[in-house]
Formats: sequence, structure tokens, C-alpha cells
Amino acid sequence: MSRYTVRVSQHKVSNRVLQDITTHSAEETIAFGRTLAGLLVPPKLVLLRGDLGAGKTTLVKGIAREFEAASEEDVTSPTFTLVHEYRGPTATLYHIDLYRVDTPRELETLALDDLRSENSILLIEWGEKFRWLSMERDLEISFERNGETDRAIRVRV
Ligand SMILES: Nc1ncnc2c1ncn2[C@@H]1O[C@H](COP(=O)(O)OP(=O)(O)OP(=O)(O)O)[C@@H](O)[C@H]1O
Ligand SMILES: [Mg+2]
Repeated sequence: MSRYTVRVSQHKVSNRVLQDITTHSAEETIAFGRTLAGLLVPPKLVLLRGDLGAGKTTLVKGIAREFEAASEEDVTSPTFTLVHEYRGPTATLYHIDLYRVDTPRELETLALDDLRSENSILLIEWGEKFRWLSMERDLEISFERNGETDRAIRVRV
């Protein structure tokens, strides 16, 4: 074993960077969401990471549009309702916001496991707060805010 070999445990998270781009407007982030949708063959569990206003929900607008599951205007932040469901012809998207969910017990009441199925894609904001979600995720999309309109977006598998 070379000294560069990293031992990884059984779980599937590799942290390999798949894509790395900077967008310069909300429209560009939506367009990126549309191209990204091609990677999202269900079932998938996707974590969206980044500060408030980083662009997570904006990206979901593009993903939902590409799946013909919802229009950009119809995708709004699930801040209070916690889970929004958008059904498309090839997948059902669940857009989830865990910002206000603090304990594993509260998380349990959302029964996210029940939403996972052959044709579902879970798009979860603030999911990294919970360890099991970090372990289970297929993809992580992180956002870094650089100034008013620049967003560095990184996709990891
Ligand atoms: N390059 C960009 N990409 C995405 N959004 C941008 C960009 N430039 C400016 N914005 C603006 O930043 C805001 C992003 O808000 P959005 O709701 O997507 O953030 P969020 O990461 O989901 O935040 P929260 O954690 O509060 O839900 C929007 O007002 C959007 O118009
Ligand atoms: Mg949001």
C-alpha cells in the first residue's frame, strides 16, 4: 500500500470533486441546475451546503425545471413547511430544508426514509447537521458566496 493510499470505510462517500464552477448570477445557477439534472438518475440523496442566501434553493429551481417537475417560480424555500414535493414524469423531487430542525428526534418526525424510493430524488438543505445524512448522501453540492453575485459551486460524489 503506498503511503498515499487513504483507507476508506464501507460507506460510499468518496469526496471526489466532480464539477467545480463559478456562476455570476441567479440565472446562471439555474442554468447549471438544469445541466446538473442529467447527473441525477433516481434514486438519489443530495446534500446542498452553503450559508443563508448562497444559492441552494436557486439551484433547485433549475433542477426541478429540467425534470419538468415544477417551474422556477413554483420552487420556493421550504423554510416553514420543511418538505416540498415536485412530481415530474421521470422522478419525484423532494426539496427539504432542515435549517429549523435541530434534534434527531425532530428529524425523525419528517420520516425522510419513507420518501426514498426507486424514483425519488431528495434535495436537502442543511442536511450536513445530521451525521446519518452525511453518510448516506450520494452527492454533495456546496456553495461559496464571493461578493454579491459570484457563487463557487462544487459537486462532490
Ligand atoms: N450566482 C448566483 N447564484 C445563485 N443565487 C444568486 C447568485 N447571485 C445572486 N443570487 C441571489 O442570492 C440569493 C440566493 O438565495 P437562495 O434562496 O437560493 O439561497 P439558499 O442557499 O437557499 O439560502 P437559505 O439557506 O436561506 O435557504 C437569491 O436572492 C439570488 O437571486
Ligand atoms: Mg434555501
